[in-house]
Amino acid sequence: MTGDALLTGTDLHKSFGPTQALAGASVSVRAGEVVALMGPSGSGKSTLLHCLAGIVRPDQGQVHYRGIELTSLSDPARSALRRREFGFVFQFGQLVPELTCLENVALPLRLERVPRREAERRATEWLDRLEVTDVAGKRPGEISGGQGQRVAVARALVTGPRVVFADEPTGALDSLNGERVMRLLADAARGAGVAVLLVTHEPRVAAYSDREVVVRDGRARSLEQVA
Ligand SMILES: Nc1ncnc2c1ncn2[C@@H]1O[C@H](COP(=O)(O)OP(=O)(O)OP(=O)(O)O)[C@@H](O)[C@H]1O
Ligand SMILES: [Mg+2]
Repeated sequence: MTGDALLTGTDLHKSFGPTQALAGASVSVRAGEVVALMGPSGSGKSTLLHCLAGIVRPDQGQVHYRGIELTSLSDPARSALRRREFGFVFQFGQLVPELTCLENVALPLRLERVPRREAERRATEWLDRLEVTDVAGKRPGEISGGQGQRVAVARALVTGPRVVFADEPTGALDSLNGERVMRLLADAARGAGVAVLLVTHEPRVAAYSDREVVVRDGRARSLEQVA
């Protein structure tokens, strides 16, 4: 693994009952780098992302974030670190159904005690950037899947995270919208030095990354991408 990595997972193992989801996966990402995780369904991509984000505790192996071993932190300390430094776009159930889209995007800021007016101002800016201003007052049940994903991307970026974890961030988007979302994530990475780890099945999406990592049978292998 490279010395200047921001986040590194080493030799990660994770089983769910008899199913071995990770069997010694290692991966790292640098500030400003977009890494695409690819691989067949069930190969361990989401589990790897969840371990790297400190959401799932690996059975074996370590995750280092800026010199901190995530599994050595208490649960509240790890949650606080996640809220402050990480942003998430997940495959399923990412928005809170009872809140409006604006409130959903403002939520991570409110959890950090940013005053409501300021949080909503910043949330509105991100909804604008993702071109979903018109859904601000609607609830997630009243918008399309693609709009929901863009709202979720806005929510992931609103706090100015250092690492963004994205699981199929463009799955429900048509190709034009998908490219726009990828460009936003890539711009965030290159402009603000954010590290982006994203799971995708689409080579077209992976083409926006700096590096591709193939996950197969719970192991990760880096492919050097021809730029
Ligand atoms: N919470 C869980 N309980 C039981 N088994 C799980 C759990 N999460 C994942 N698995 C199993 O672990 C393996 C890896 O799952 P994972 O979700 O990481 O795959 P994936 O590569 O993200 O697949 P997909 O591309 O379909 O999203 C699969 O066999 C899956 O069934
Ligand atoms: Mg998955």
